[in-house]
Amino acid sequence: MTTARKDRPFDIVVWGATGFTGALVAEYLARHRPEGLRWALGGRNEKKLAAVRERLAVVDPSLSELPLLVGDSHDKEKLADIAGKTRVIVSTVGPFAEYGAELVAACVDAGTDYADITGEPHFVREMIDRHHEHAKETGARIVHCSGYDSIPSDLGTLTLQEYAKEHFGAPFREVKCFAGESKGGVSGGTIASMMLIVEKATKDRDLRRMLGNPYALAPDPKKKGPDGPDPKGVRYDADLGRWTGPFVMAAINSRVVRRSNALLDYAYGEDFHYSEAMSFKAGPAGMLTAAAVSGGLALAMGGLALAPIRELAKKKLPGPGEGPSKEARESGFFKTRIIGTDARGAGGKRAVCTVAGTNDPGYGETAKMLGETALGLLDEPRGPGGVLTPASSLGMHLVERLRNAGMTFEVSEL
Ligand SMILES: NC(=O)c1ccc[n+]([C@@H]2O[C@H](COP(=O)([O-])OP(=O)(O)OC[C@H]3O[C@@H](n4cnc5c(N)ncnc54)[C@H](OP(=O)(O)O)[C@@H]3O)[C@@H](O)[C@H]2O)c1
Repeated sequence: MTTARKDRPFDIVVWGATGFTGALVAEYLARHRPEGLRWALGGRNEKKLAAVRERLAVVDPSLSELPLLVGDSHDKEKLADIAGKTRVIVSTVGPFAEYGAELVAACVDAGTDYADITGEPHFVREMIDRHHEHAKETGARIVHCSGYDSIPSDLGTLTLQEYAKEHFGAPFREVKCFAGESKGGVSGGTIASMMLIVEKATKDRDLRRMLGNPYALAPDPKKKGPDGPDPKGVRYDADLGRWTGPFVMAAINSRVVRRSNALLDYAYGEDFHYSEAMSFKAGPAGMLTAAAVSGGLALAMGGLALAPIRELAKKKLPGPGEGPSKEARESGFFKTRIIGTDARGAGGKRAVCTVAGTNDPGYGETAKMLGETALGLLDEPRGPGGVLTPASSLGMHLVERLRNAGMTFEVSEL
């Protein structure tokens, strides 16, 4: 029998606390948790968990007794036990397609809220198909993509559309998201997750088709909408006044934004257009950088489709548990601009939502985004269950939390 959420011993479990990102999320909670939070660290290796706890006790000596929950990501019984002991679980155990499915199932069964930082569209699709309806019944809110992919795009679009509704009377019909200036590094887990998608996609035609579908994460992925494939090639965007090129994360972010629109009862309209690209500077130098980066990206993706290059890359790039140094994280940042045009009923009105962070996006800011999502899931009143998105679960409440935690979500008219 499941214990009522309010009677469970823990508020939050950080699952994967021994990993590079998981340890940062644990540290974020150690520094920013509200008083009285009942939380625990979870993972498969007790010794490593105890070492993470020791580091947290340096931040706050009262954490030296923080409970440790040990289990393997494939041990259904253990996961059911852990999911039944807490109100919220946040997971950083990836690649999620390899290690994530059983934990989500356990959370859905137990009515436990869950958030992760996956950027793997096929994993999210599988969780939607397997659990959305059941999660609605048990009340579990399953919130994938609560890190750099896809919070800036998803919550930035929501913030912009809320502004348009308030100031122009209706949401924008067209929204274009541009990932701009940024500085950051990459960790072993992220590389492993990317490699796994590329490797699977080279062998599986259905997966390639799914990844190419702009509505891959919509409630009904067969239903066509107004958007086509993600932008390819280099072009100048007159609304932004900068050169642009393809953005690798558009493959997940744009699908999440379109799912949010559908789950919010088409709050942005059924004819809503969304696209995502990378942006560069305005002049000829910007065009050259856009061409060089886009060409480099195409070469890298083409190269990674070849098994020997993947093997070589695995040896040269960071391995499990490795990632950018503290200095690199703290000197990192990102800035995303999300432009709305075609305000229905307000003619030529245009606005931009700037979303920015003051640490590197993938780790420092991602730890903040997942940490605040975990804390936000504890707040009342709770929304309904389902396999949701950041915008369709916590929405503007999470934007407020992230603003208070130092992230920028700022709208101005153009
Ligand atoms: N959305 C974003 O912006 C974003 C940012 C950063 C990372 N990510 C994603 O987050 C994931 C983790 O990345 P990372 O670099 O932090 O990875 P990592 O350092 O390799 O950590 C992986 C974690 O998974 C645990 N794990 C592996 N197999 C397990 C199993 N069978 N049972 C239980 N735990 C298991 C590891 O435990 P051990 O320590 O015991 O090995 C470790 O705690 C990746 O999928 C990555 O793509 C996303």
